Amino acid sequence: TGPDTVSPTGQPTGADQSTMAQAGSYLTTAQGARLYDTDHSLKAGPRGPVLLQDHHLREKIMHFDHERIPERVVHARGAAAHGIFTSYGTAASVTKAAFLAKDVETPVFVRFSTVLGSRGSADTVRDTRGFATKFYTGEGVFDLVGNNIPVFFIQDAIKFPDVIHAGKPHPDREIPQAQSAHDTFWDFVTLHTEATHHTIWNMSDRGIARSFRMMEGFGIHTFRLVNDKGNTTLVKWHWKPKLGVHSLVWEEAQIINGVDPDFHRRDLADAIEAGAYPEWELGIQTFPDTPEQTFEGIDLLDPTNIVPEELAPVQPIGRLVLNRNPENFFAETEQVAFHPGHLVSGIDITDDPLLAGRLFSYLDTQITRLGGPNFGQIPINRTHAPVNDMLRDSFHQSAVHTGVAPYRPNSLDGGCPFTAGADTGAYIETPVRVPEAKKVRDAPESFKDHFSQPRRFYLSMSPVEREHIIGAYTFELGKCWEQAIKERGLQVLANIDPELCAEVAAGLGLPAPKATVPLADVEPSPALSQLGRTWPTD
Ligand code: HEM
Repeated sequence: TGPDTVSPTGQPTGADQSTMAQAGSYLTTAQGARLYDTDHSLKAGPRGPVLLQDHHLREKIMHFDHERIPERVVHARGAAAHGIFTSYGTAASVTKAAFLAKDVETPVFVRFSTVLGSRGSADTVRDTRGFATKFYTGEGVFDLVGNNIPVFFIQDAIKFPDVIHAGKPHPDREIPQAQSAHDTFWDFVTLHTEATHHTIWNMSDRGIARSFRMMEGFGIHTFRLVNDKGNTTLVKWHWKPKLGVHSLVWEEAQIINGVDPDFHRRDLADAIEAGAYPEWELGIQTFPDTPEQTFEGIDLLDPTNIVPEELAPVQPIGRLVLNRNPENFFAETEQVAFHPGHLVSGIDITDDPLLAGRLFSYLDTQITRLGGPNFGQIPINRTHAPVNDMLRDSFHQSAVHTGVAPYRPNSLDGGCPFTAGADTGAYIETPVRVPEAKKVRDAPESFKDHFSQPRRFYLSMSPVEREHIIGAYTFELGKCWEQAIKERGLQVLANIDPELCAEVAAGLGLPAPKATVPLADVEPSPALSQLGRTWPTD
């Protein structure tokens, strides 16, 4: 680091460079040497060859050549904002997480995204939206890395590369950029029928959000909360938008994609700039932590399941307000690194096999995306809690560690011995019992019902919402080239509901098949319908 001063011209120097504005009356090299010209290469005469010894040209072009970093392998397109989360304290009986105690205010950074499109794709495509929140709590970072749809395509993370390969553009021509209307997507979701529930949410109005400000968010997996007495409660996380849930209709979405592909990111930034701060309430559904980990017969470890809100109401526990736009897209929105394993004391995981794979995947991908393992030191990712770790060196290390003994205990540096215990505030994994069983590559029987919950969803829709779902399936399956995929798509619909199947079949000009499974006897869940859905508790 250089001298921590400001030069007479107002140039930031040395340590100040981390917040360097484009100010100052002269330019310098990255090393601080003053430049007199940055518009001409050094040449042997004005018409002569450019000289290899031009170190300013070399530095300027070298840096430019490496400006781009890889986009995220999924959720590449996103927009983000800073805000404040204020806890009501209503979760304090079920979790000891300090940021969920009454009236605690925690700074947050939230990134919204589409899943499949590349960084430069359009906003109003039919897709799931990411809703990732970084809470900079006093006990470390907690990331709630959720989506605007409460279920996922697959039940086991080992299929994640497959579902994403199927959803991304075809590898031969890279078409389509960001639509689910193509053969590989429909091939996958009709062969892996666990995807049926997520897919019907995508085909509903939820697949084309009106605005990030008008989306719900869901943690999807069941998490485990732990209170100060060591009692545990299973929970599902919900974000409820103050503006209610709103969508575009398909024709609007298509026109906007052409007219303003930045529609969602513009809407978010404009609203914040105008002082119309987007707000959500955070809520939890709570379930007893029984050995079966089921609730009303619903397997809580299956991420293709929801628990209807009529069975387990969402209890509000805090309020999120987004009140500041990022100043530098790259430094904040692009470099932010979320990870479902960023947990704080009082919040623990369950054995959902999808979550297990995520706990590995995010850190792993970020090593490539952010150029090594030190991305926690990038300003947007820095915790607000004190750090005292023994992680050392590697690419982009910016900490200058002192001491000679980066291990504990040691007898050289007098470093802190480890003291762990419930009273230290340390993160302690809940000592849950692991089922006694043989090693297998298999899923439980309870993961094998793929149609009851999609059926409940469809039956819960209002007539106009059903019309949109029928239109979406007809359009999307109609875009597939392979007849066999269309037919398999209809078979899936027949297993959800005969009316849905018949309408889509008529639209495709194909016969409607009969169901191959008994239709589930499920009650509609009025809370699933988007119409008339408002939330605020005040
Ligand atoms: C990125 C949500 C499942 C791997 C993201 C992001 C969100 C998200 C919101 C974007 C974060 C950001 O804005 O930077 C979810 C949800 C899932 C799920 C809700 C299921 C419940 C998975 C699974 C895997 C996975 C099963 C892999 C096994 C990734 C990767 C990224 C990502 C590699 C890119 C991260 C980065 O580059 O920083 N996910 N995801 N996700 N997800 Fe997931």
